Amino acid sequence: MRQAFLMGFLLAGLLAGWTGAASAAEAPASVTVLVAYHSATGHTEKMAQGVVEGAARIPGTKVVLKRVGDVAAGDLFSADAVVVGSPVYWSNMSGDVKKFFDDWQFKFGVFPEFKMRNKVGAAFATGGQVSSGKEVTMLTILAAMLGNQMIVVSGGGAFGASATTEGDSPGIDDKELASAKELGARVAEVAWMVKRGRQQ
Ligand SMILES: Cc1cc2nc3c(=O)[nH]c(=O)nc-3n(C[C@H](O)[C@H](O)[C@H](O)COP(=O)(O)O)c2cc1C
Repeated sequence: MRQAFLMGFLLAGLLAGWTGAASAAEAPASVTVLVAYHSATGHTEKMAQGVVEGAARIPGTKVVLKRVGDVAAGDLFSADAVVVGSPVYWSNMSGDVKKFFDDWQFKFGVFPEFKMRNKVGAAFATGGQVSSGKEVTMLTILAAMLGNQMIVVSGGGAFGASATTEGDSPGIDDKELASAKELGARVAEVAWMVKRGRQQ
């Protein structure tokens, strides 16, 4: 009787250890967030740095910061999440950012396999004036991501993080920078959820 009890106890212990080891082996070691941006006068770059700081707050997250023109195929395909930032040019994303998205096909050949499918995506923008295209800019970035079957998320604001940089509100203030950090953290959190979910 005592022997059977000990045996059962031993087996249960072994089983708990085994399943624990198995789930530890399955847990993703890290998540990579690529932050890609265009910036001519530094405002969008400052927001990009905020996004990086926010994402890095989530333990285990690796963050890569690059100008859109410097992003290589390896950066794009090894990322679990991609956050794209643009200045508002004529109420929309800048030509450099649009070219970046077009290059996903011309340079990186994402279609027809949908190589960006199920990666997490998000947007941020800076614009000179209060109501002159920041939300359209973020939405068109998100639209390009949706077209690539990515999982788009917001954070910082309803469509992403944004800042007004001219007139009465020059540069990036603390609140705007905080919204960039919030976006980065949200993106990293969701990227972890997706990656963990995939490995179950
Ligand atoms: C060609 C051009 C077009 C612009 N169009 C807009 C616009 O439509 N709406 C707006 O709010 N700001 C506009 N701006 C201002 C920039 O969006 C703003 O200064 C932005 O913060 C610049 O970002 P950067 O410092 O990262 O280059 C425009 C700037 C340029 C150079």
